[in-house]
Amino acid sequence: MQASPTPLGQRIGVPREIFPGEKRVATVPDVVEKLIKLGFTVAVESGAGDGANFSDDAYRAAGAEVLPDAAALWAASDIVLKVRPPSTEEVALMREGGTLIGFVWPAQNPELMQQLTARNATVLAIDCLPRTLSRAQKMDALTSTAGVSGYRAVIEAANAFGRYFNGQITAAGKVPPAKVFIAGAGVAGLAAIGTAANLGAIVRANDTRAEVADQVKSLGGEFVKVDYEEDGSGGGGYAKVMSEGFQAAQRQMYASQAKDADIIITTALIPGKPAPKLITAEMVQSMKPGSVIVDMAGEQGGNCELTVPGEAVVRHGVTIIGYTDLPSRLAKQSSTLYATNLLRLVEELCKAKDGVAVVNMEDDAIRGLTVTKDGAITWPAPPLKAAPVPAPKTAAVPVAEKKGGHGHGSSGPLPAKTLAILFAVAAVAFWFIGAYAPAAFLGHFTVFVLACFIGYMVVWNVTPALHTPLMSVTNAISSIIAIGALVQIAPPEAGVNGRPDGLILWLAFAATVLTAVNMFGGFAVTRRMLAMFRK
Ligand code: NAI
Repeated sequence: MQASPTPLGQRIGVPREIFPGEKRVATVPDVVEKLIKLGFTVAVESGAGDGANFSDDAYRAAGAEVLPDAAALWAASDIVLKVRPPSTEEVALMREGGTLIGFVWPAQNPELMQQLTARNATVLAIDCLPRTLSRAQKMDALTSTAGVSGYRAVIEAANAFGRYFNGQITAAGKVPPAKVFIAGAGVAGLAAIGTAANLGAIVRANDTRAEVADQVKSLGGEFVKVDYEEDGSGGGGYAKVMSEGFQAAQRQMYASQAKDADIIITTALIPGKPAPKLITAEMVQSMKPGSVIVDMAGEQGGNCELTVPGEAVVRHGVTIIGYTDLPSRLAKQSSTLYATNLLRLVEELCKAKDGVAVVNMEDDAIRGLTVTKDGAITWPAPPLKAAPVPAPKTAAVPVAEKKGGHGHGSSGPLPAKTLAILFAVAAVAFWFIGAYAPAAFLGHFTVFVLACFIGYMVVWNVTPALHTPLMSVTNAISSIIAIGALVQIAPPEAGVNGRPDGLILWLAFAATVLTAVNMFGGFAVTRRMLAMFRK
C-alpha cells in the first residue's frame, strides 16, 4: 500500500454514491465505530447516507468526520469504500496510489481498469471474491446483496399482485393461496422461496443444478424437475449452458407452470453469459390476467422475452417487473449488510489493528479480489489451490441418481433388493441367537430389534425440515423412564403393604418429577415447532 499512514492510521473515506437512483452507502455508523477501533480514521461525504436513512449526525456521533463534497473526500482518503464502480470523474478525484474497495466487475469494465491503473491504484473488487472459500463467506457481498434482492422481488410481486398470498377462509368467502413459481434457486431464488413461503403462498421452484432440490424443500418450496437427465453444475456452485434437448424439455415444463402460477420470479444466471431465456412471450400470454412476473436477470438481458430492464410493464394483462435496482430499494438493509461484509474484509487487511491495511497476495481470498495492485493489473487471479467447497457435492448427486435408476435418488427407503438381503441376514442371525441365548434375553432382544426397525422406517420418511420437531418429540417419548420410576415407588410384587426403602422412594419421586417436565415440555415444544410449519 502506497499511502503513508498518519500517526492516527490510514483514513478510510466513504463518498456519496452518484449512480442515478442509487440509495445505498458503503458504510453505516455502527461499522464506523468498529473501523475506528481497528486504528483507522473515517471520513464520510455529507449526505452519503441520506438515501439509506443514515444522517450526517449519526456518522459524526459514531466518530466519523463529515466532509462537504466528493473532491474533499476523495483527496483526503487513503482507502475509499464504495458500492457501485467509480465513474471516470470519480477516478480523476482519486488520490495517486490510493486504494479502492467496492464492486468493480473488471470483465465488464476494461476502460475503468485502465483508468485505475493510470492512477497507480490498488483495487479490491468485492465481486471477485472466491466465494467457495468458506473463510471468505463473511465478506461475500454478492450473497448478501442477492439475498436482499430475492426478498425484495417477492415484496414487489406482492405489491403488484391484486390478492393475498396466503389462503384464507372468511365469512366473505374462500381465498385460495397464491401460486409462486421461482426459476433459478441460487442465493436470490432461495431468499425468494423463503419469503414467499412465509407469506403463505404455494411455492414451486426449478434449477438446472440438481443439488439445490433439498434446499428448496427445506425453505418450504417444492422442487419441480425437468424431465430430462442432465446436471447443470458448471463448477464453483454456478450453472452452465444446457443442451438443446434439456432446454426443450425445460420449456415444456415452464409452459405448464406458467399456466398454473400467479407469480413467476426468475433469477437464472450463468456467469459470463447472457441470462437464459426461460419465459417466452407465449408463456406470458398463457398466464392468468393480473399475474405478475419479476425478472431479476434484467441487467443480463432478462429471463423473460418481454422484460424491459429497469421498468415495470404490462403485457397480455401480466405485470412484468424488470427493476435492476432491487437492493437499492431496501437501502438500509443492503447498506448494513454490505458495510459489515467490507468491515470483515478490512479486518483481514489489518490484522495488527494498527490502522494500516496490508494487501497480502499470499492469502487466497485477498489475492482473488485484488484486481490491480500499485497500478499493475492482477486480474484474473489464478485458480484456487484448494478445491472449492461445493464441487464434490455437485458431482455426487448425478452419480447417486444414475445408480438408483430413478429420478429421485437423494431420498427414500433402501431399494427392495438390498432390504431383502438385509432381512435374510437378520433372520439367520436371529435364529442363531434364539437357539443359543437365554429365554429372557430373547424377549428383550425381539423388542429391541422391532423398535430399531419401526424407528428407522418412521424417521426415514420424515422430511429433513421436520427433523428438529422430530427430535423434540422423541425426546419427550424417551420419558418412558417415568414408568420405571413409578414401578420403583410402588413395586407390583410388594403388594399393598410393601414399601421400598426411603432413598429409593425419593430417587424414584425425583425421577418422576423430572421426566414429567421432560415429557410435557417436549410435547409442548414440538407443538410450537410444528405450528411454525403450518400454513
Ligand atoms: P447465479 O446468480 O449465477 O445463478 C442463479 C441460479 O440460476 C443458480 O442457482 C443457477 O443454477 C440457476 N440457473 C442458471 N441457469 C438456469 C436455467 N437455465 N434454468 C434454471 N435455473 C438456472 O448464482 P448465485 O445465486 O450467485 O450462486 C449460485 C450458487 O453458488 C449457490 O446456490 C451456491 O451453491 C454457490 N455459492 C457457494 C458459496 C459458498 O460455497 N460459499 C457462496 C455463494 C454461492
